[in-house]
Amino acid sequence: MGKILIVGSDHAGFALKKELCEVARELGYEIEDVGTHSAESTDYPDYSHRVAGAVARGDGVGLLVCGTGVGMSMAANRHPGVRAATCGDSYSAAMARRHNDANVLCLGSRVVGSGLAVEILKAFLSSSFEGGRHERRVHKIELPDEG
Ligand code: RB5
Repeated sequence: MGKILIVGSDHAGFALKKELCEVARELGYEIEDVGTHSAESTDYPDYSHRVAGAVARGDGVGLLVCGTGVGMSMAANRHPGVRAATCGDSYSAAMARRHNDANVLCLGSRVVGSGLAVEILKAFLSSSFEGGRHERRVHKIELPDEG
């Protein structure tokens, strides 16, 4: 299977999403865009749930863009097996993959400029899970009743 990036945004993230799709294509990713497809006001959970559903099915990794990245991650993380991380820097994006096995990156278009967003996306896509002791910890994320 090729590298697939499932992307979604609301109106606030629409322009940045388009820009990031180009970058991901250049990196060899096939893009599956679940919307939104215009800058008209819309509701971020609709797109977050679509992307998270596809990621949970194993279709690929996800990218979600809204104003802050926060609402997108809240909705995406309701899906078992989805680990969505809102990142505002490249280090966190790389570590979210290496230690937390994140499978969805959330970005805030009103928080990061496009140059930084590109760096964050590149860090996320070029990093991979280290496993080992992190396997046990990531497994525990799905066990809220153990608290
Ligand atoms: C839309 O105004 C804004 O609330 C949304 O893009 C996002 O930031 C929510 O988390």
